[in-house]
Amino acid sequence: MNMGHLLEVNDLVMHFKIQDGWVEAVDHVTFHVDEGETLGVVGESGCGKTTTAYAITQLLPRNAFIKGGSIKFKGKDLTEFVNDDGTIDIFNQAIRDIRWDQISIIFQGAMDALNPVYRVGDQIEEAIMAHTDSLPGLIDDEFREKFAGMRVEEREIARYRIEKLYDIVNLNRDRIDHYPHEYSGGMKQRALIAMALALRPDFIIADEPTTALDVITSYKILKEIKRIQEEHNQSMMMISHDISRVAEMSNRMAVMYAGRIAETARTTDLFCDAQHPYTIGLINSIPTILGTKEEMKDRLKGIPGSPPPLVNPPKGCRFHPRCKYMKDKCKKYSPKPAEVGPDHLVWCWKADAENRGHEWK
Ligand SMILES: Nc1ncnc2c1ncn2[C@@H]1O[C@H](COP(=O)(O)OP(=O)(O)O)[C@@H](O)[C@H]1O
Ligand SMILES: [Mg+2]
Repeated sequence: MNMGHLLEVNDLVMHFKIQDGWVEAVDHVTFHVDEGETLGVVGESGCGKTTTAYAITQLLPRNAFIKGGSIKFKGKDLTEFVNDDGTIDIFNQAIRDIRWDQISIIFQGAMDALNPVYRVGDQIEEAIMAHTDSLPGLIDDEFREKFAGMRVEEREIARYRIEKLYDIVNLNRDRIDHYPHEYSGGMKQRALIAMALALRPDFIIADEPTTALDVITSYKILKEIKRIQEEHNQSMMMISHDISRVAEMSNRMAVMYAGRIAETARTTDLFCDAQHPYTIGLINSIPTILGTKEEMKDRLKGIPGSPPPLVNPPKGCRFHPRCKYMKDKCKKYSPKPAEVGPDHLVWCWKADAENRGHEWK
């Protein structure tokens, strides 16, 4: 067992109960994130990326059931905090203490994540004030100098921190007391990043942080996130449906398909030596300005078909109905992870066979 991982998700199963059955949204998911590392999580819409992120922080609705596996953060299994039947204990203090303080989320869809009736700064302040234990850690030399000899209220520390945060995410401090409707989309997204950074968490989950924004704003904000994260040596999980957006930001990648992991590898290995037919399809569907017109056409074809519903998903490998290499075995049995290189796992029978020197027939 590797002791070094900051976050280690192992064989995690999290299903949603619905009227006529179960949505198998997170099914035997295994991955890890090391200190200072960015893991890019990619896959088509509906493949369980957001659900996986929320399972880690246990921000789950009442119909969510954690049915198995573990989520170890700094060695502590967070699934110990769920109720006996697998539902989430929303009042559990231990997980609340960890959330925002040690693990924070930049939510998908910045537009709805801020409450329209409160000033943005007040909303960040509220998040900070929920963790007053962490306030002393936010005091720096500049603060000590500024308030030397004065009695300082907790709120003043929070306020000072918010000013610093606005500098970090490149928002004007004048904006702190404005309402969300006075912010542009890009500014709201920056404010949410500020909120996620507020308590200096060791681990940040960014769930499609720039999907709603135009390409140029998106590029600027992603660069900003990367800069902050590297400066503070924070670890990160960067979720996107767009493999090309996260590739340059990630040291490693996890490709998800239909509630499962298809492949995990260092980013360079994933691009040079992708093994799962789904990963290969994703990479081939990245538009490129290089190459001939004919090559372009061929590339943009992508992967025929669409992801399956997660209520009664396909048996065996969930990708088999779309896979051109599919054999009987793939219809019957879920693939076990094959280690095809250092830190490179592939959930595919074909890759498994070829890795062991067998021809796939
Ligand atoms: N509260 C819920 N109840 C039932 N099904 C849900 C709920 N939330 C999400 N799902 C389903 O879980 C699956 C995974 O969704 P999600 O994690 O949002 O995917 P992604 O973030 O990759 O687009 C989808 O099939 C979605 O419809
Ligand atoms: Mg999502």
